[in-house]
Amino acid sequence: MTETIINEKSEIKRVSTYIDGVDDKLQGGIPLGHITLIAGAAGTMKSSICFNLLYNEALAGKIGLYISLEQTYTSLINHMINMDFDMSKVNIVVISDIAKLKEQIQVIKNLGKGALIITDLSALRKQVVGTDMNPTGDWLNVIKNIAKNVREQAGLDHFVLDSLSALYALSNFKDVRVKLFHIFEFFRDMDITSFLISEMPLDSSRYSEYGVEEYLSDGIISLQLTHRDRKEATEATIVKMRATNCNRDVFILKKDPQGFHALSKII
Ligand SMILES: Nc1ncnc2c1ncn2[C@@H]1O[C@H](COP(=O)(O)OP(=O)(O)OP(=O)(O)O)[C@@H](O)[C@H]1O
Ligand SMILES: [Mg+2]
Repeated sequence: MTETIINEKSEIKRVSTYIDGVDDKLQGGIPLGHITLIAGAAGTMKSSICFNLLYNEALAGKIGLYISLEQTYTSLINHMINMDFDMSKVNIVVISDIAKLKEQIQVIKNLGKGALIITDLSALRKQVVGTDMNPTGDWLNVIKNIAKNVREQAGLDHFVLDSLSALYALSNFKDVRVKLFHIFEFFRDMDITSFLISEMPLDSSRYSEYGVEEYLSDGIISLQLTHRDRKEATEATIVKMRATNCNRDVFILKKDPQGFHALSKII
């Protein structure tokens, strides 16, 4: 990685969260190159806020890769259309067959502007070769190869893995902690800004399955469902963000047709 020591803090480049009110809590945004865990319970809009970031960055000319192991790309796109994302405004490149990755990368290069690349479990499955010794195949390797190829050939700015939890379920890693160390090292070396979604139960006191991910990651944004005055909402906190003086106050994450907002109370 091209990690260098900066002379002053203004040199830290950041990407917006595209959630109205959150960048102010982060000195302007998430530092480029960071690996951020998006940890939360079911239905707390983990996928949506990651998609929102990649969508808006694609509009701004950046390339993002969204790997969806939890739901098919059709289900993901339909959900986002229902969330008022206008897919006609952005270059959505679906990789439904990894064997055709080269052609798809060429499409992105020809576009010469931002793109949101989406691939899913069934597309990856075609490339994952299981053996008797390792019946679950090497999902991680396939994911790494896609990211590496896109980065080398078209340029890659941002990466979303939805989710780390699904990767664990598929992979059946033997020495998980060592493997995790290498996963984080890989994304750091790629010099891209990464978002790893972590499924956490409501009552969990941790932000990840093994507890080490939260130390290996540069940032954690936690999302939980809350009930107040018989109203349900998603409560969010920036638990940590390295190289950032972040505001850890709990806020309510709200979505309306204009976008995502951070509110101080349920309305
Ligand atoms: N327009 C909307 N405004 C607010 N919430 C919405 C809207 N459309 C859908 N939702 C809610 O968003 C939630 C799902 O969002 P999303 O898929 O991003 O969450 P998630 O945390 O990734 O969920 P999962 O655990 O299923 O992966 C659902 O509970 C759904 O009811
Ligand atoms: Mg999701």
